Amino acid sequence: MPDYGLPMSDEPHRFGGRWTEEKLEILTRYLKAYTTALQSKPSPERPFVKAYIDAFAGSGHILARKQRRAPASLLPEEDDARDEHAFLEGSAQRALAVEPRFDRYIFIEKKGRHRASLERVRREAGELASRIEIRGGDANEEIRGLCSRNWRSRRAVLFLDPYGMQVEWRTIEAVAATRAIDLWVLFPHGIGAGRMLTRSGEMPASWRRRLDLVFGDRDWERALYSRREQRNLFGDVTVTSERVGLEAIGRYYNQRLATVFAKVAEHPRVLVGPTGTPLYLLCFAAGNPRGAALAVKLARHLLEDRRD
Ligand SMILES: C[S@@+](CC[C@H](N)C(=O)[O-])C[C@H]1O[C@@H](n2cnc3c(N)ncnc32)[C@H](O)[C@@H]1O
Repeated sequence: MPDYGLPMSDEPHRFGGRWTEEKLEILTRYLKAYTTALQSKPSPERPFVKAYIDAFAGSGHILARKQRRAPASLLPEEDDARDEHAFLEGSAQRALAVEPRFDRYIFIEKKGRHRASLERVRREAGELASRIEIRGGDANEEIRGLCSRNWRSRRAVLFLDPYGMQVEWRTIEAVAATRAIDLWVLFPHGIGAGRMLTRSGEMPASWRRRLDLVFGDRDWERALYSRREQRNLFGDVTVTSERVGLEAIGRYYNQRLATVFAKVAEHPRVLVGPTGTPLYLLCFAAGNPRGAALAVKLARHLLEDRRD
């Protein structure tokens, strides 16, 4: 299957900028609150097995570009900082550092070299090593496999952090159907969907198929395009399509999440690039109906709490 992510340099695992730190900080704060809440309210009969699942787990570390706040032309004195890089701990490393601990950590990563790096992370994880499972293969298939298990005595937080348009709607539905998994998902409304959904509506058949897979059906065409009829002086009618803006594309995806999950955070965080261009939406959906209101309240607070 073609990779619909952005072309990225691989050596070492390198991507993102300030928005990378932003999403990881929100995730980590949620994980800490989550394990704390589950620890302080153990089920009287049988405590839940708590898992952290990272389905685009990466290598454990990230070499991220430091991101400037304003366009270069406005702050020329900062130009020297343009190529600065910083090593960040990736989502897998951060999840392992969260206390109270999870009972299990499942890292899914397609790329062999990144898995090798995750193996090193596991070797260095001390007593946590035996709780860590590293899986290869495609995230969608692996997640659907995990979701088909019995989730009655399990709870999990799942992080879906793809480069591009890889997360399929069938996977989202399977996650929601467990009613046991809280989901953080990066939806590439700016760098993925917004580019494939061309202004005119003309696009290759392969893009249509990918959009169907990501949104779940062809309804996106009706929801995200309006038809305009124009009549010229001779009475000839031409029909043109016009696409909604990026914000509405994001809203549509979040509303789709709300159709299958117990509850979603209404206002996902917009992650922007160095010049303020929207790249991704960080969305949250709560799986378990009993804990959903509290989970969304917490996620909403984290999504709205800007520390920059
Ligand atoms: C944005 S990076 C993840 C970064 C990670 N969350 C972190 O904080 O370090 C996306 C990762 O997903 C992996 N990947 C891409 N397509 C995949 C797929 N279909 N299944 C599993 N992993 C995939 C890539 O190799 C890459 O390591």
